[in-house]
Amino acid sequence: MKNNPLPRLDNDPAIRDRLLPFCRLKHGEIWNDPEDRHRIGCKDAANSNDIIELVGDNSATLAIHDPPYNLVAFDLRSIEEFVEWCRQWIRNTTTALAEDSSLYVWLGADQNDGFQPLPDFMVMMREEPYKSRSFITMRNQRGYGTQKNWMAVRQEVLYYTKGSPVFNVDAEYTDIPKLLRGYYKEVNGKKTENLERGKSENIRAGNVWVDIQQVFYRMDENVSGCYAQKPLKCIERIIEASSNSGDAVLDFFAHSGATLIAAEKLGRRCFTMDNDPIYAEICIRRLERYRQTGREGWQNGHPFELEVPTFADDSECSTQHEESTVPQKNPS
Ligand SMILES: C[S@@+](CC[C@H](N)C(=O)[O-])C[C@H]1O[C@@H](n2cnc3c(N)ncnc32)[C@H](O)[C@@H]1O
Repeated sequence: MKNNPLPRLDNDPAIRDRLLPFCRLKHGEIWNDPEDRHRIGCKDAANSNDIIELVGDNSATLAIHDPPYNLVAFDLRSIEEFVEWCRQWIRNTTTALAEDSSLYVWLGADQNDGFQPLPDFMVMMREEPYKSRSFITMRNQRGYGTQKNWMAVRQEVLYYTKGSPVFNVDAEYTDIPKLLRGYYKEVNGKKTENLERGKSENIRAGNVWVDIQQVFYRMDENVSGCYAQKPLKCIERIIEASSNSGDAVLDFFAHSGATLIAAEKLGRRCFTMDNDPIYAEICIRRLERYRQTGREGWQNGHPFELEVPTFADDSECSTQHEESTVPQKNPS
């Protein structure tokens, strides 16, 4: 198997300098899709004009945001500043969402620092025009931690709604067969057990998702260089549950473009942005590659292979399959 990954981009200025000349978007610019479906911006989620320019007259029925979590992988701000920043992009989201719409936000809790920022964000959201609906936990396969604490394997996503949006419950069914019988209940005077009552052979995901494979270098969808990539399977589940074909989906923190590719696969439009021109370019390239080849990522190759065939000369070069004490695809 090819072994030519892009090193992590966030902490290596030399690699960034090599890639920036190949990025099509400068700050403030938008890529217009030749097929006129999606929009990708190099913009700032907290800037209301940027959102107006990105979304235009359209309104979306779903937003899936995965902001930096104020944890080790990103610039640390005070919790108050971080929450105020969140409030700005939440308000920008509210203006771009339809009356009946859904909002999902991925956010972590730092167990070494009072579990911030997740609870602070939840409290802030009580002042915004959304109804809290579910608190979903997704289980990673690779954890991190020490011998003196529980291994950290969770990622959280909050589900909120505005008005009365769609919820397609069929999207909730997993590939996991129902195994346990014996949960009896009387229906119309007849004692029934759970397997005959259920509408599927498989179990519902519920709000603890244990059936999603964390992205790693052997997977087709892997986008090396992206340290916080979400698996397509979980984004597709959200899109299928909370939008209909042809709807528009927002994602203000694009990174590897997971929401964009899931939207493309499922016949939705996606308005997405990243304030880093390199990630914006990766998203454009990932979409173009998916359309040309049906490939969802680069596995252990990378998006800039034509221009920069190898990073072997870079001293900081590292591969993404090294074991690590901190997670590489879910910063916390
Ligand atoms: C946690 S990652 C998102 C991961 C994404 N869900 C995926 O699956 O690839 C957060 C991204 O937000 C971008 N970002 C940080 N601040 C931003 C801002 N103010 N506006 C837009 N994007 C921002 C970062 O460059 C980073 O790529």
